[in-house]
This record gives sequence, structure tokens and C-alpha cells, in this order.
Amino acid sequence: MSPALLSPVVAGRTVAVRVPATSANLGPGFDTLGLALSLYDELVVQALPEGELRIDVTGPGSDAVPRDESHLVVRAMAYAFEAVGRRMPGIALTSTIVIPHGRGLGSSGAAVVAGLLAARGLLAGDVEFGPSLLLRLATELEGHPDNVAPALFGGLTIAWMDEHGPQHKKLLVHRGVAPLVFVPEFVMPTSVARGLAPLQVPREDAVFNVSRSALLIAALTQSPELLLAATDDKLHQNYRAQAMPDTDSLVRALRAAGFAAVLSGSGPSVLVLADGPGRRLEAARLVASVTDTPWEPLMLAVDFKGGTVRDYTEDASQTSTRAS
Ligand code: HSE
Repeated sequence: MSPALLSPVVAGRTVAVRVPATSANLGPGFDTLGLALSLYDELVVQALPEGELRIDVTGPGSDAVPRDESHLVVRAMAYAFEAVGRRMPGIALTSTIVIPHGRGLGSSGAAVVAGLLAARGLLAGDVEFGPSLLLRLATELEGHPDNVAPALFGGLTIAWMDEHGPQHKKLLVHRGVAPLVFVPEFVMPTSVARGLAPLQVPREDAVFNVSRSALLIAALTQSPELLLAATDDKLHQNYRAQAMPDTDSLVRALRAAGFAAVLSGSGPSVLVLADGPGRRLEAARLVASVTDTPWEPLMLAVDFKGGTVRDYTEDASQTSTRAS
């Protein structure tokens, strides 16, 4: 094989990647709005000689994760290398699952973003992966941009598609907004939940959501007291409720008590956008009192940074020197 066809990444080069969980839709902003949250998957990716693949995954749900090239992080890396015309080296991937899988907290979007950022880190100095290329590749892999945009860029993101592909605008969230997520033990595959959202809706429902999602930008950035009205939705949550009755009951109980509760992404977790940390505690107490279903409450902050990658080559070599 001619050297020009070898991967440009030297074996041993190592990067560390960190990607936040995300909650998409936020009620009315179906496939459009997303929020990055302070819960992170972390991975270390080391380049190996071409053709080698080692995957070491731990954490909840790791038994179900493939250990071959169908692993989503590896697929995203291969997609990125192919997109920029470079050969991928062999890969040793070490990760711990923190973002729970199948719960509506953007775990697949985080895996896609992690793979793209790992490729960006390994190719640093050779190829420039700008924000619009990253968002385009991530959206092509994920199918919709509302999780991958905040996973890449942090904060509150508005994502939309135009003739040039996916676009985004990042906004800073008002400091009075305190996110709280209730995570159940059961899962809801996104593909199933997407099949329940209708392809056509009455015009008054579309107008309802246009008004609420416009209001939601004001509520999240300036006026948290409007969050309850601003998180109402008629495009997807009612249609999905039949598949997640416990989630639906919890959203209704919280909203009846004045909390801005919504389905997180396509579920089954519930996101509460509380207007202050005190209200968040009240919501957690209410949930403990109204349901026997175990819901794990996660008091989180908005992540403002998004996914990061750093060169870890030195640290990795010191770790292996110490270990030997
Ligand atoms: N907007 C997507 C949906 C998010 O609701 O199907 C999936 O995480």
C-alpha cells in the first residue's frame, strides 16, 4: 500500500472527548429547540494501526452496546473521516455511559457528536472541522438537528434546515431557569415515538405551537415566569402519551401544580423548567408524593460549553508508563 493511502493519524495519538446530555423539543419546539444539560459522557479515543478495533464500555446499559464497527461512536468517526477524504486509523475506545440510553436525554446524539469530535481531535493540524460541517454531519447521522446542536454548541439552541443544510442559533438561558429531569426505569425508542407524531395537524394546532415556541424563547432568555404557558404543545406530546402513560400522568400532575413540565425529547423522561432552585425542590417533593413509579430526579444546570475534545496523548502515555 502506498504511504499516501495510509491514515494520516499516527498510532498512539489520543484524544479525550466530553459531550453533554440534551433535552429536545422543550414542549412546543418539536425538532427545533434543544437544551444542553450538565450530565456528560466522557470518552478516550486512541489511534491504533489500521484495521484494529478495541472497545471498552462500562456503565448502565453497557451490556447492550455493540463492540464492533456498528458502535455509534465508531460509525460517526468513520463517517467524519470519509467526509473529509481521510483514512481512519485503528481505534481503541474507552467510555463510561453516564447519559442513560433510551430515556430522551440525547444519548444517541451525544454518541454521534462524540465520534465527530474524536475525529476532529485526531485530525487536528490536518483537517479543520468547522461548526457548520460538524452540525451537517451530526444531523445527517441523527436525522434531526435538535439534540446534536446543543450537544455540539451548548446552551439553548434553535435549529432549522434551509437549502444549505442545518443551521443553528445559540442563546444564553436566563439564570433563573433551573432544569430538573425525572428519569424512569423504562425506555422508549426514539424510532417508535417518532412514528406516533402525526404527519398532518389542524391549522389551529400549528398556530398554537408557533405562538408557544416564540413565547418560549422569551421565557427561557428573559421571563421565566412565562414558562408554564410557553411550554404547552399540541404537535407531539398528546399523540405519544398512549405509549408512555406514566410519563403522561406525571407531566399532567406537574403542570396542574403550575410547573413547566414537558416530555424530554421523545421521552420517556420528564423535563421540568423550574423558575428557580426552590421551585425545583417543590417539584421533586410533589413527584415523590403523587407516584409509586420510581423516577430518578436529576437536578442539573444548563451546560453553556457544548462538546469538547482535547489532545490526551501525553496524559495517556504517562498513565501507561505509571501502570507498567
Ligand atoms: N425531536 C425529536 C423527537 C427528539 O421528538 O422525535 C428525539 O430525541
